[in-house]
Amino acid sequence: MGDTVLELVRNTVGAEVRGVDLRRVDPAEFAAVHRAWVDHSVLLFRDQSLTDDDLIRFSRRFGDLDLAPIQETGRRFVEGHPEIYVVSNVVVNGEPIGSLGAGEAVWHTDMSYLEDPPKASMLYALEVPPSGGDTWFCDMYAALESLPAELRRRIEGLGLKHDGTYNSGGYVRQGVAATDDPRNSPGAVHPVVCTHPESGRKVLYLGRRRNAWLVGLDLADSEALLDALWTHVERPELSWAHHWRVGDLVLWDNRCTMHRRDPFDAASRRVMHRTQVKGEARPAA
Ligand code: SIN
Repeated sequence: MGDTVLELVRNTVGAEVRGVDLRRVDPAEFAAVHRAWVDHSVLLFRDQSLTDDDLIRFSRRFGDLDLAPIQETGRRFVEGHPEIYVVSNVVVNGEPIGSLGAGEAVWHTDMSYLEDPPKASMLYALEVPPSGGDTWFCDMYAALESLPAELRRRIEGLGLKHDGTYNSGGYVRQGVAATDDPRNSPGAVHPVVCTHPESGRKVLYLGRRRNAWLVGLDLADSEALLDALWTHVERPELSWAHHWRVGDLVLWDNRCTMHRRDPFDAASRRVMHRTQVKGEARPAA
C-alpha cells in the first residue's frame, strides 16, 4: 500500500485512509482497505475525483451491487447508472433530483427492512452546503458492549421487526400504504443481537426506531424496551460526525453501524451519489 497512512479518526468508530486514489486501487491496497473497513466500520477517503463509473467500479470490488431503491418521486435511476442512488435537496424543473430533501434523516441502518440487507454503502460528495448536513455514524459493537447487563439480558434471543413503511426522512416508501402498526407493516425480522459475519463480533442490530417491534412482546412492553435501547445508543460517545467536503467518499459497514444526517439550509445545495453492496449473509444471531 506504499506510503498510505491509516489514521484513526475516533476510538469508537471510523478511520481516515490517506494516500489512496479510488480510481486505481491495486489488489494489495484493496486488501488493506477491506481489512480497515472490517476493523473500523467506517472509512473516509478525502480529495477523490470520481465519475459515476469510477464509483461503481470501486464499489464492485466489495461484491455485487444493489439497484438503487425507488425515490419518493417514483424515479429510480440516474440515466445509464441504475446502481446510483442520489441523495439531494436539489430541484430541477419542479422535480427533486434525489432523495431525503434538506431535513434531518434519523438514525438508521440502510434497508434493514429487507430479508437480505446490503453489507456496505458508499456516499460520495459532489456538492455540499457551507454548514449542516453532517452525517453521524454510531458504533453498534460498542453500543452492545456498553449496554447495561440487565438490558442485554432482556433482549438476548429476541427478534426485531424492521419496518419498511417509512424512510429515514419520514417519507412513505414508494408503493407502500402508510401504517403505524409494526405488527402488520411491511418489513423483515432479524435477531436484535447479531454476529458480524466477517469480524465474528456480536453487534446490536436496531435498524430504525419508528415502527420497530420486538417480536412476541406486547406493543407497550416492546416500546418501553426499545426506548431504553435507543436512549442508550444515542449517547454521544458512541458516534462520530462527519463534516463533508466535496470529493469525500465515506464507506460504511451496514452490519455494525447506524447513521443519521443533520438538516441543512434548504436554500443551499447538497448532492451525494450512493452505491450499496449486497450482503452475502442474512443477519444472524
Ligand atoms: C443516507 O442515509 O444514506 C444519506 C445520509 C446523508 O445524506 O448524509
